[in-house]
Amino acid sequence: MKSENTNKMKITNICCIGAGYVGGPTMSVIAQKCPDIKVTVVDINENRIKAWNDPNVENIPIYEPGLTEVVKEARGRNLFFSTDVDKAIDEAEMIFISVNTPTKTYGIGKGMAADLKYIELSARQIARVATSDKIIVEKSTLPVRTAEAIKNILDNSGKGVKFQILSNPEFLAEGTAVENLLNPDRVLIGGEQTKDGRAAIEALVGIYQRWIPKERLLTTNVWSSELSKLTANAFLAQRISSINAMSELCEMTEADVEEVARAIGADSRIGSRFLKASVGFGGSCFQKDILNLVYIARSYNLHEVADYWEQVIIINNHQRSRFSKKIVQSLFNTVSGKKIAFLGWAFKKETNDTRESAAIYVADALIEEQANVVVYDPKVKGEQMYADLDYLASRDIDENRNKLIVADDPYAACKDAHAIAILTEWDEFKTYDWKRIYKEMQKPAFVFDGRNLLDKEMLTEIGFVHYAIGKS
Ligand code: UDX
Ligand code: ADP
Repeated sequence: MKSENTNKMKITNICCIGAGYVGGPTMSVIAQKCPDIKVTVVDINENRIKAWNDPNVENIPIYEPGLTEVVKEARGRNLFFSTDVDKAIDEAEMIFISVNTPTKTYGIGKGMAADLKYIELSARQIARVATSDKIIVEKSTLPVRTAEAIKNILDNSGKGVKFQILSNPEFLAEGTAVENLLNPDRVLIGGEQTKDGRAAIEALVGIYQRWIPKERLLTTNVWSSELSKLTANAFLAQRISSINAMSELCEMTEADVEEVARAIGADSRIGSRFLKASVGFGGSCFQKDILNLVYIARSYNLHEVADYWEQVIIINNHQRSRFSKKIVQSLFNTVSGKKIAFLGWAFKKETNDTRESAAIYVADALIEEQANVVVYDPKVKGEQMYADLDYLASRDIDENRNKLIVADDPYAACKDAHAIAILTEWDEFKTYDWKRIYKEMQKPAFVFDGRNLLDKEMLTEIGFVHYAIGKS
């Protein structure tokens, strides 16, 4: 770290551990905006790094609108992707930790707590390799007070190297990652409230300040920052579960959930965003973070708090399962041997990420009913769909391949189908030739729109039997 006359640290070399959906885009944008800083993104996953380095920038492993342009500009100039984790740690003055923190699948806290093993391994690796003082930045979403554990590991490296830990949670949403990174509502930086802590905060502020107005850079203590990320995700997911809960009531009462959302969203205290009823939220964050929040609350014996947030997950699971039940009931109580076409597998549009996508759970439930599911998604590869289904371990993996077929053309997917289910809100679905699709389907031809994407009038005029979320 070079010291400037005002005691400010000048950062010239950054490394990021984890080249995933957060680390990859975030570091690419930092490198684009700070051409004088060397940014190295490292990962133990060789294939992922190979894909980030693919000479054809279209082959980078993450699909995000605008990302290829950013990578094209910075890669090889000051942005590097590598598997040499030790070297990057050694050279960097500031190290972002952006590894995955999935829900634990074993032991204490199984199914609830965040698995911090990758975080701890990263901290231990830094402790082993570092020979100079470093600022460590938590990018991954972490339980409140994780920085304490990281600090404990680092401070016991026995080498006299000094570390400052910052919490800098990422609020980007997939599909709009680049836009969110270039123009964020806020950037949150939590650090120790000491002289060295404040200097570390200032060093990170100095980076973001290059393109983000200073008033959007919020600084707090470490614990507020860690907990704010969990809280933000819990509040966002809660809005979706709230409108989804109302969607079921709408279906019973001839109210229209979109009209209700518009009516309440016009109240500036409520606001109109994140009120879209759906087949259920997915993604790597919402479920994981709420389960983690519930686990933390229970560990402090705050059972009412835990129960309150757990309900968000209960409604989300219910929303997925009532969608698949609706399909079975509508198809005369049996889908055995029937072809159900899925349009969409990703957890939202404009991403190839499928983690916790509602499509996985709906497919699993329908296959359990012996349906033949044929899936078309414009960005998700078939191998990923099978991996997602296999992960649920509901049946033999060969049976998954028999019962789920991947189509690379939407018309082929829908041909001869008894029903179509819309699982992702890809815009291109709206532009299809729905008359042709109708003509080529079994009759009665059903559409189950899990995203309220398609025009009901248009579909019913063509002849489809149409079901949408929260509409009678
Ligand atoms: C979320 C947060 O938005 C982001 O701030 C955080 O950093 C990571 O988690 P992400 O999961 O990428 O981002 O996408 P988001 O746009 O929040 O959507 C999550 C899920 O909710 C998707 O399945 C989406 O389809 C669904 N959703 C979203 C709805 O069903 N209705 C809505 O109104 C909004
Ligand atoms: P996110 O959506 O939070 O970015 P991802 O799972 O997409 O999560 O990315 C996390 C990345 O972190 C993965 O590519 C994984 O291989 C990488 N990773 C996990 N542990 C380590 C480690 N100890 N060293 C380097 N990379 C790691």
